[in-house]
Amino acid sequence: MPEEIVGQKITLKLLESKYFDEYHGMFSSTVRIILGLPETATLEETRDFLSKTVEALNNGENSKYKAFYCVFDNLDGKLIGALDIREPGCKDGQLGTWINENYWGSGRYQEVLNLGLKAYFRSNDIDTINAYVRVANIRSLKAHQKYGFEIVGELEVNCNDCYEIVITRDKVLN
Ligand SMILES: CC(C)(COP(=O)(O)OP(=O)(O)OC[C@H]1O[C@@H](n2cnc3c(N)ncnc32)[C@H](O)[C@@H]1OP(=O)(O)O)[C@@H](O)C(=O)NCCC(=O)NCCS
Repeated sequence: MPEEIVGQKITLKLLESKYFDEYHGMFSSTVRIILGLPETATLEETRDFLSKTVEALNNGENSKYKAFYCVFDNLDGKLIGALDIREPGCKDGQLGTWINENYWGSGRYQEVLNLGLKAYFRSNDIDTINAYVRVANIRSLKAHQKYGFEIVGELEVNCNDCYEIVITRDKVLN
């Protein structure tokens, strides 16, 4: 996967330790609650989680993470979200994303998906990618359906009712 992917509205950059503190600042309570995480975390907890993630990424074949990008806004240069892609069969689904609420509904997320998924399918011999979206998370469901994901099932993930949504290589690359 490329180190950096530059789009019109946003730029994806692979996770590095120099982004940890900014990540912490933008990973807001609003986003954390929607994702089912505790409302707040300390800076130390965020740094610890991200350090372990970088370690896992460096672990190559043995890592559940295939890619972990931070999302930067091209206008103000700030870190505004993240997109990570995990191995097929991962218990939490393959795609994980968030965007700080101040940047929702601006077309940025559609570009995040487009750049991230195109790069992923170009670098991996794989036909589909899935995600689990909580049934209550209507905004996320609509955002992914707008991009082209389809609901293929409903299941319980970590005690929450979720849709499994999937997108194909052909849809992303054509
Ligand atoms: C999911 C997320 C990345 C989407 O980013 P976004 O900028 O909000 O997405 P978009 O603007 O592209 O799409 C959202 C769509 O949901 C629609 N929507 C929002 N609330 C809605 C509601 N209550 N009912 C129906 N549609 C709704 C919006 O109108 C928009 O569709 P439109 O552009 O056709 O009008 C962002 O909301 C987020 O980070 N949420 C918290 C973390 C999260 O849920 N991550 C994903 C886990 S599966």
